[in-house]
Amino acid sequence: MSAQLEQIEQTLQSQPDQHLEFLAKKDIIARILELREEKNVLILGHNYMEPLVYQLSGEKERGDSLALSRYAAQSDKPIILFDGVMFMAETAKILSPDKKVLIADATAGCSLAEPFKAKDVLEYRRRFPHAPVVTYVNSYADIKAESDYCCTSANGLDVVLHASKTFNSNQVIFFPDSLMGANLQHDVEKQGIDLIYPGKYDENFGRCEVHEQFKVEHLRDIRLQYDIPKHSEEAAILVHWECRPEVIAEADYYGSTSQMAKYIADHPHLKRVFLATECEMAANLASEYPHVEFVRSCNLFCQHMRKITLEKILYSLEHEVYEVNVDEEIAERARKAIDRMLEIW
Ligand code: 13P
Ligand code: SF4
Repeated sequence: MSAQLEQIEQTLQSQPDQHLEFLAKKDIIARILELREEKNVLILGHNYMEPLVYQLSGEKERGDSLALSRYAAQSDKPIILFDGVMFMAETAKILSPDKKVLIADATAGCSLAEPFKAKDVLEYRRRFPHAPVVTYVNSYADIKAESDYCCTSANGLDVVLHASKTFNSNQVIFFPDSLMGANLQHDVEKQGIDLIYPGKYDENFGRCEVHEQFKVEHLRDIRLQYDIPKHSEEAAILVHWECRPEVIAEADYYGSTSQMAKYIADHPHLKRVFLATECEMAANLASEYPHVEFVRSCNLFCQHMRKITLEKILYSLEHEVYEVNVDEEIAERARKAIDRMLEIW
């Protein structure tokens, strides 16, 4: 058994269900790891991947959208296999145009990215001609190409503040997440910034189909049922930026997926945590923090992330499919918006 296979088994041992699945799929995992070495592939894994897929990526090769963009930009490997959804793989291709970027299922989309096109950004620009455009990374390349900056949930606040200052504008267009837009608006209120996001002055809406389902009543019930009082050292509710404003207000902490994980690392007295985000994230953290109880009362999975399975990854590596390509002219303009983000944060 290879050293990494052993390491994966050890990590999953504290979670009996995950260990059982590991034993059942050990041969597939071993073959994927072999192909990774043979073909010199960088396997990047988002925090929402199912545990066995997540474990295929080394510690420095998994994380949130921002971390994965950075790893993609820095790697010298000729092939990147992106275990995440299409907009993430596309971002990796934009940052590494000379590399072959693969995704195991090319239909793995995102409810935030799908409904919008470049013409929608241009329409906002026409209506608010002096406002810079900050585009959430959960969007496709044509939209990024029309933007001044990209941002992720880890740095959205800083990028919006930076854009307002640099363009000397108290209006900033934020695209396309209406709920994250409302949350950011709350946080930049003091600076007098008017954030313009879909749904604020029109009938457009961009929402994550997973995060919009968390309701404040659920969180209050969870606090009572699982004894998670506010401001406790031992228990906490952590929430993703894409949730509703009332849900954010009820949280002990809100941030990107990796920032939520960091909160747990930084609070060693925590014994119980509820994460208002995609449920695989809790499964992955459970094997990393076996002393923490992750309240699993949610059953909210991202149908797009779930399309990335071990079997499809093996096929993808064997046949070097499905290759992600971005039109060169669009990629070049989109890269500028991503690079401006990476320069700030
Ligand atoms: P992160 O950037 O926080 O990983 O979020 C990506 C995402 O798709 C959340 O739903
Ligand atoms: Fe998109 Fe939501 Fe899935 Fe993230 S969890 S990829 S925002 S649909």
